[in-house]
Amino acid sequence: MFDTMTLTKATGAVCGSLLVFLLGGWAAEALYTVGGEGHGGEEAKQAYVIETGASEGAGEAAAEGPDFATLYASADAAAGEKVFAKCKACHKIDGTDGTGPHLNGVVDRPKASIAGFAYSEVLVGMSADAWSPENLNGFLTSPKNYAPGTKMSFAGLPKAEDRANVIAFLAAQK
Ligand code: HEC
Repeated sequence: MFDTMTLTKATGAVCGSLLVFLLGGWAAEALYTVGGEGHGGEEAKQAYVIETGASEGAGEAAAEGPDFATLYASADAAAGEKVFAKCKACHKIDGTDGTGPHLNGVVDRPKASIAGFAYSEVLVGMSADAWSPENLNGFLTSPKNYAPGTKMSFAGLPKAEDRANVIAFLAAQK
C-alpha cells in the first residue's frame, strides 16, 4: 500500500498544484484588477468631473437659496414667534426696553431711534437709515458683521427662514 514517502509526495503534489492555482489566480486577478483599475479610474474620474460640475451648481443654489424677498413673501409669523424666544432675554415687545431696545414697531423704524436707549456708536451712526425687512435680514444674519462694534451680543440667525419668519413676526408687533 502507500508508504509514507508516497503519501508525502502525493500530498506535496496536491499542495503544489493548489499553490500554482492560488498564485495563478492571484496573478490573474492582479492583472485583471490593474486593467480594471485603469478603466475604473477613468470612469471614476469622469464621474467625478460630472459630479463636481453638478455639485458646484447645487452648492451655489444651496448657498444662495431663494432670495430674501421670496422667503419674506411667504414668511410664517407664528414660526417667527418661536424664533423670537431667542431674542426675549434682551428684547421686549411691550414698548419697554431691556438689555436691548423694545422691538414692537421696529420694522421700518429708523435705526437707533428709541429715545433714552444707549445705543452703540455704530448703530447711532446708521440712524439716517431705517430697519427695512431687508436691513433687518442683514443685521440678524450677523449683527457684528453688519454693525461692527454693536452692543447686541448675539451670534445671529444662520437660517434664512428663521430670519424671514422672525421679521414677519416683528412686523405684526405694532
Ligand atoms: C444678548 C442680548 C440680545 C439678544 C439675545 C438679542 N439682542 Fe437685539 N439688541 C441687543 C442690544 C444691546 C441692542 C442695541 C445694539 C447697539 O446699540 O449696538 C440690540 C439691537 C437690536 C436691534 C436694533 C433696534 C433699534 O432700535 O435700532 C434689532 C432690530 C434687534 N436687536 C433685533 C434682535 C432680534 C430679532 C433678536 C433675536 C433673533 C435679538 N435682537 C437678540 C441685545 C440683544
